[in-house]
Amino acid sequence: MQKHTLVSGIRASSEPHIGNYLGAIRQFVAMQDEYDCTFFIVDLHTLTTPFDPKELRKTTFEVAADFLALGIDPEKSTLYLQSQVAAHAELAWIFNCITPLGELYRMTQFKDKSGKDNRDSVNSGLLNYPVLMAADILIHKAEIVPVGQDQVQHLELARVIARKFNNQFGKTFPEPKAMLNSTAKIMSLTEPDKKMSKTGGQGILLSDSPAEIKKKLRKAVTATDARGKSQGVDNLFVLLREFGSKDQIQFFENAYRDNTIKFSELKDILAENISNYFAPFREKRKELLENPDVIARALSDGAEKAREKAAITMLEVKKKVGLL
Ligand code: TRP
Repeated sequence: MQKHTLVSGIRASSEPHIGNYLGAIRQFVAMQDEYDCTFFIVDLHTLTTPFDPKELRKTTFEVAADFLALGIDPEKSTLYLQSQVAAHAELAWIFNCITPLGELYRMTQFKDKSGKDNRDSVNSGLLNYPVLMAADILIHKAEIVPVGQDQVQHLELARVIARKFNNQFGKTFPEPKAMLNSTAKIMSLTEPDKKMSKTGGQGILLSDSPAEIKKKLRKAVTATDARGKSQGVDNLFVLLREFGSKDQIQFFENAYRDNTIKFSELKDILAENISNYFAPFREKRKELLENPDVIARALSDGAEKAREKAAITMLEVKKKVGLL
């Protein structure tokens, strides 16, 4: 039976942390057998917010190493850099010409990122960001797109664009569906009412050394509010359920209930478990970064595969639109 096509874009702007891993990357790795998977690092999207060229090059390469080291297997899936397959940008242009400005102005992410008063001075890439994302998805005629809640609105726009194109030029694209993951959100260790991110040094990066992991966890806040609830403690327990053994989970749940819990103990156990869990990854990542040609090769092979597929879609699109 033919496998369903699944695509997802990976942000190139930062090193992944354990929230990204549990929320997305782990599922990507697991889905490779069941779906026809295509993953690309969205380096063109990165250009919409301030960036440093040298830093961009370095992070892109490291993110590629991360995904390979975590088990994205170029034999099973297609992995490449968005900027190396020109059809993404080419299709985005055609989509720009059928997308009403109003649809773009109402995107929550655009509003957040541009701020109310800067609309006229932000770069127009920021406004067109979701159009490029629609092209990323539809160039592969993808049916399924694993995304976080924050991207659901963008995915809905991709469906609108697909529908609009189909109505105007004839049935070409399927309407892609979001696949939301059910893992609990991982919160910041130091501000547990916010999502974990790499800012402020509180996000545990997958490449962090055991000592760094321990240091970050030790700083995790566990304060309780007036009702005796603590988002910080909840967050540590989410992590324990992901990375702890059955016995450890039982032990700390009992201790918490009986009020005998020592958070320093819980944090150190967590640090040890997380360090061990990612030890093979750190090893593999280091090996890859010492052999950059292996990474470059994997990416260029991936781009070649993607270009072949994308060319078929582009030919069909151009013909339908009346481009010679
Ligand atoms: N906008 C997505 C994010 O911020 C990244 C992305 C770009 C993407 N193109 C995509 C995700 C295509 C899924 C499919 O996470």
